[in-house]
Amino acid sequence: MSEQSEQIVNLGERSYPLLIGGGLLQKNGILDPFIADADVFIVTNEVVGPLYLQSLTSLLGARRIDSIELPDGEVFKTIATFESIIDRLVAGRYARDAVLMTLGGGVVGDIGGFAAAAYQRGIRFIQMPTTLLAQVDSAVGGKTAVNHAGGKNLIGAFHQPSAVLIDTDTLVTLPDRELRAGLAEIVKYGLIVDAEFFAWLEAHAADLLAREPAALHHAIRRSCQLKAAIVAEDERETGRRALLNLGHTYGHAIERCAGYGEWLHGEAIAAGICMAAEFSVRLGYLESADVARISALLAALELPTAPPSDISVADFMAAMSIDKKVIGGEIRLVLMHAIGTAEVTADYPSADLGALLAEQLGR
Ligand code: NAD
Ligand code: GLY
Repeated sequence: MSEQSEQIVNLGERSYPLLIGGGLLQKNGILDPFIADADVFIVTNEVVGPLYLQSLTSLLGARRIDSIELPDGEVFKTIATFESIIDRLVAGRYARDAVLMTLGGGVVGDIGGFAAAAYQRGIRFIQMPTTLLAQVDSAVGGKTAVNHAGGKNLIGAFHQPSAVLIDTDTLVTLPDRELRAGLAEIVKYGLIVDAEFFAWLEAHAADLLAREPAALHHAIRRSCQLKAAIVAEDERETGRRALLNLGHTYGHAIERCAGYGEWLHGEAIAAGICMAAEFSVRLGYLESADVARISALLAALELPTAPPSDISVADFMAAMSIDKKVIGGEIRLVLMHAIGTAEVTADYPSADLGALLAEQLGR
């Protein structure tokens, strides 16, 4: 029998469970406590829908269920796609007690979640993430968004789901490259708050790449536990939650400069984590030996450990400057003091950041 576990994101009256395990899509009644007899509208996409929509519909039993299959890809994470969901909700006269379910990766979860946040000023929603990245990160914590031509996730809302259903069996169909991208976000948790978990990942890199079920379950469960604790402490990212952005300011700049879709989000984060580690050493916070461990783990997980060298420093810096983490013109970055200990700060010499970029991009 597959392993199953449950975590709670503790947010007072908005608390919700993360149900994790294999075969959850076959577990009749599992969603009843969160839906009762409400109408359900499912947001999925043209890749995931054909794979899992029928199972999800069966799980939901007799009730009014409708669905939309969005086109696949980050390029469709737009206001236009968001509007297409709202159009269907309006046309179907969905009431405020309806439940929206997202079935897919982070793109579907972020757009569907934003539609749930906005429709009639907010309806309930349930996330059913089907990529590793979404299972360990994007489906947890209530950040919802679409992109704007001026930058990623610039339009969105905090809207917590009522539950997150993580059926790890859905990872069976996930392409290897997407699985590896999810592993980058898992490494992030070890680096910011849990040195022991980082060491566990070093010891189990091969098992994770081989999709060994017990290893994947442990990695997902621990990541969810760590993210749930951070979100419970700082739901709106006024402080500690910003640690989750380790490597992201660099990573978003890589995604933007390389052209959206060229690098997967998780791949860009892996290279961004290495840049954050190098910067932490440059500022005297982190030992070089730790950088070597970090790059070695990411390389063992077959992830990039450096940005593409054909981006200019000026373009990269411009892309970093439009990041949402920029406040009052200052780029706040996550720096590591050791593996498992990090801080967010804008208090570093900007010349050092320029020197890092010149070194990393000028190869
Ligand atoms: P994605 O949603 O594009 O999914 C990756 C690919 O895998 C897509 O082609 C998708 O159709 C396909 N897919 C999904 N599940 C599958 C399955 N089980 N089998 C086969 N194919 C499957 O990408 P992602 O990496 O899941 O998410 C990236 C997005 O998440 C970005 O837009 C990023 O900004 C966002 N994100 C949000 C948060 C947050 O806190 N809200 C956190 C991290 C990332
Ligand atoms: N992925 C960053 C956050 O949820 O805060």
